[in-house]
Amino acid sequence: MSKNIPLLTRNGASLPCVGLGTMVFPEPEKAPGLISHAINIGYTHIDTARKYGSEEWVGEGLRASNASRDDIWITTKVTEDDAKADDFARSVDDSLKAMQLDYIDLLLIHWPSRTVPLKETIAALNKAKKDGLAKNIGVSNFTVSLIEEAVQLSDEPLFCNQIEYHAYINQDKVLNACRKHGLLVECHVPLGRGRTYKDPVVISIAEKHGKTGAQVALKWLIQQEGVAVLPGSTNPGRIEENIDLFDFELSEDEMSQISELRSNNIRAVNPEVRRPVWDTV
Ligand SMILES: NC(=O)c1ccc[n+]([C@@H]2O[C@H](COP(=O)([O-])OP(=O)(O)OC[C@H]3O[C@@H](n4cnc5c(N)ncnc54)[C@H](OP(=O)(O)O)[C@@H]3O)[C@@H](O)[C@H]2O)c1
Repeated sequence: MSKNIPLLTRNGASLPCVGLGTMVFPEPEKAPGLISHAINIGYTHIDTARKYGSEEWVGEGLRASNASRDDIWITTKVTEDDAKADDFARSVDDSLKAMQLDYIDLLLIHWPSRTVPLKETIAALNKAKKDGLAKNIGVSNFTVSLIEEAVQLSDEPLFCNQIEYHAYINQDKVLNACRKHGLLVECHVPLGRGRTYKDPVVISIAEKHGKTGAQVALKWLIQQEGVAVLPGSTNPGRIEENIDLFDFELSEDEMSQISELRSNNIRAVNPEVRRPVWDTV
């Protein structure tokens, strides 16, 4: 079943604006089945990472699905512990082996390293692309200054910055920097880890459209220019709900009402050991 998920195009590549997040599977034995279910009901974009331990399940889910490899966009990431060139190359190899794939659609630096110069990691990222292991390359959890530095250092165009973005956080500075440099924005924790879709403002807008709070929280993001979402769910019904977003539109007034919720100022992903100095607004 195709949901005709709209595509965001950069540098000749087209990213489906909704992807399945695969970071959390409390019951790992169910993970491949959930991933292949997602693909069979219309997901064409899966987000994984070396750090999540879900790459094997993504590969297994893809092989068990009705889709062919080339129809599914797979993103994975290299952790900050593998920021040195040799480690980076080994991590990419490990990802490909784990998923049993011969290329990755989008390869990201998962977090900036505090110890390895960005120049070395960006060169390793570029090499993965030049060697044909990754079709597109990008970054994640990068601040404005890190985006500027990465763009300067990279020979190849950077495709996106994957950041925490949902209705409860103001990411205007990072969004503006991404747009200035032609990077798409991929939103991780787009539901604010279960917070934003329960907000009374979101619920009341959802009721008017006959949709759920989660669908409105996701729609508010993808109605913004150059923004894709990566909701995670381990429930087949909610996985389906999270791509059923294309039969309604939020008005300008509804978009503004949800934008005001940023005053909640909640950053759900903020690990002390690896966070950079965030841009404050
Ligand atoms: N780059 C990074 O550093 C980074 C960091 C964090 C996450 N990510 C990516 O972002 C993805 C999403 O993050 P996340 O899963 O932590 O947060 P999230 O998508 O904001 O929220 C997931 C939570 O919302 C619930 N949920 C999902 N759909 C729902 C719906 N329609 N209605 C009600 N509840 C719903 C899920 O519960 P159920 O499972 O019970 O449905 C789960 O508890 C990850 O899987 C990963 O791919 C990237």
